[in-house]
Amino acid sequence: MGFLPELLHPRSAQASRLAAEAVRAAAGVEPVEIGLVLGTGLGALVEEVEDAVATAYAAIPHFPASGVTGHAGRLVVGRLAGRRVALFQGRAHYYEQGDAAAMRVPLETLALLGASTVLLTNSCGSLKPEIAPASLVALADHINWTGLNPLIGDPSDARFVNMVDAYDPGLRAQLARAARAAGFDLPEGVYAWYSGPSFETPAEIRAARIMGADLVGMSTVPEVILARRLGLRVAAVAMATNYGAGMDEREVISHAQTKAVALKGVAKMQALIRGFLAELAP
Ligand code: HPA
Repeated sequence: MGFLPELLHPRSAQASRLAAEAVRAAAGVEPVEIGLVLGTGLGALVEEVEDAVATAYAAIPHFPASGVTGHAGRLVVGRLAGRRVALFQGRAHYYEQGDAAAMRVPLETLALLGASTVLLTNSCGSLKPEIAPASLVALADHINWTGLNPLIGDPSDARFVNMVDAYDPGLRAQLARAARAAGFDLPEGVYAWYSGPSFETPAEIRAARIMGADLVGMSTVPEVILARRLGLRVAAVAMATNYGAGMDEREVISHAQTKAVALKGVAKMQALIRGFLAELAP
């Protein structure tokens, strides 16, 4: 089923239409099949895109700026593993402006460009000793520990989004196959969203582990909620760049470390995404 324009939020619908028009004017009208949101340190994926047309977020009307280092702030449209893709090289986070719906216009734009699927990536902390830094984990579920929700204030009944299987089981199976073909295991995990931008305290990490989380991070969850509200199929892959605060006494968590470790693991992420896209039904 195609995207239904009435799924757009009434307050952002016009902004998203203008943004989609600007992207089509730059990159052509051929529909996009899938969007990929690239997390901290993972922007290198755009280097593999063929016929790439890159547009700075600042040049797309109503797009949020991504002011985080390690996020280029560009939308790259082109072809990757045979699929027409839109890569968001950098995202806007809640902690930048205090807006949980900061990614609404980019995700609505993606839906208007024709995409039915979005693959979200992020860098995050690991809560499991066996998930070492630079390993990849597919998200199976999440815990929204912030009390925030990007759908607060959304005036339509579409805000009551069912979050069972929010991380699409078919896409998760496809990710697992792509990882096996690339020669590594892809465990699944539960991601707990903390607002950031300060990292968690050791007590918060202990609490998250007791609650059943395997990973902690400052992104992705609001995007999953917004994407499900739009009817997009969602998959998410996390790169653990460190253990949660207090788990490894030799470790000093920092944004510089997040970026450096993500760069180490980026080739694995590239192989996974190539395999995943090649299998995506056209
Ligand atoms: N916590 C939250 N976000 C993160 C972390 C972390 O330990 N590492 C990378 N992003």
